[in-house]
Amino acid sequence: MKEIIVSGMRSTGKLHLGHYLGVIQNWVQLQDKYDCYFFVADWHALTTKYDKTDELRQHILEVVMDWLACGIDPEKSTIYVQSLVPEIAELNIYLGMITPQNWVERDPTLKDMAKILKTKEGQNSQINYGLMGYPVLMSSDIMMFNAHCVPVGIDQVAHIEITRDIARRFNNLYGEYFNEAKPILNHCSLICGLDGNKMGKSFNNDIKISDTAEETSKKVMSAITDRSRLRKDDPGHPDECEVAFKYWTIFGSEDEIETVKCECEKGLRGCAQCKRQLGDKINSTMAEFRQRRKYYEEHPEEVERIIEEGSAKARARAQEVLKEVRKLIKMY
Ligand code: TRP
Ligand code: SF4
Repeated sequence: MKEIIVSGMRSTGKLHLGHYLGVIQNWVQLQDKYDCYFFVADWHALTTKYDKTDELRQHILEVVMDWLACGIDPEKSTIYVQSLVPEIAELNIYLGMITPQNWVERDPTLKDMAKILKTKEGQNSQINYGLMGYPVLMSSDIMMFNAHCVPVGIDQVAHIEITRDIARRFNNLYGEYFNEAKPILNHCSLICGLDGNKMGKSFNNDIKISDTAEETSKKVMSAITDRSRLRKDDPGHPDECEVAFKYWTIFGSEDEIETVKCECEKGLRGCAQCKRQLGDKINSTMAEFRQRRKYYEEHPEEVERIIEEGSAKARARAQEVLKEVRKLIKMY
């Protein structure tokens, strides 16, 4: 029996290279070794976007198309939408009962989210009950399939700590049943945005998985480089070239990285030429993704079928777990 992996992403729309390198690439590699459940967290999206639901459905489809483009394989992994597995909501009720209030109040990621929300929406914005329940709902996602491991970005680790605490508490109260899921982190260094800040769609500094080759090349040309360099034959400092050279270290081969470094330091390589090559390099990595994404864009009914079949499969498994849970708690 393979160990179980559960992981998800909120349905916030088109994904970017930060999502790919930070999380999805990891998922793709884990698909063969584990029994994987990957889902779109539409309820989690509602914790902050409950008033913007017009695009919810489209956002879910975009996320799934990006996953498929990157190589998540519906033959190997179960792909589903959180709200199509309502058993998660019932489990969420049980877990909510055994989670002390100060565990969620302590959650540093939640504190950050609350802070961002306050600055965005003004001082009198309230934190809703659903947002407070974010880590409990996440625990329900993970425990619904009794996951052993959860591959996520570093920002999600605090939530998974709470999940482990909740699982332990459940086991103590009702009998040993749940695994204490461990996070799996990606070893790839985090990619920054084109302006050197964290890559994010609200910062307008991202490269989307769905961007065309032309759009990608154009964006790469805007990446910041070694700012002390004025002319193209000035000797450059790759270490101070925060974005363009960083990207080379992610997308280039060892030889290519060495060549760029040498030529830059000797003043043999202009930044424009360097970034043009970098754009080509990134585009060649992504050519396969674009081809697959195009196929699914042209066959939306296939994407919907993947979601429906995956959700039905996930639901059947969730019902089995829920039956055990109800028995352990001694529900009617
Ligand atoms: N909170 C995660 C994010 O912001 C999404 C998520 C929801 C998740 N439930 C999960 C991730 C369970 C891993 C496991 O991206
Ligand atoms: Fe950066 Fe390339 Fe310019 Fe060197 S030549 S500073 S590596 S963009």
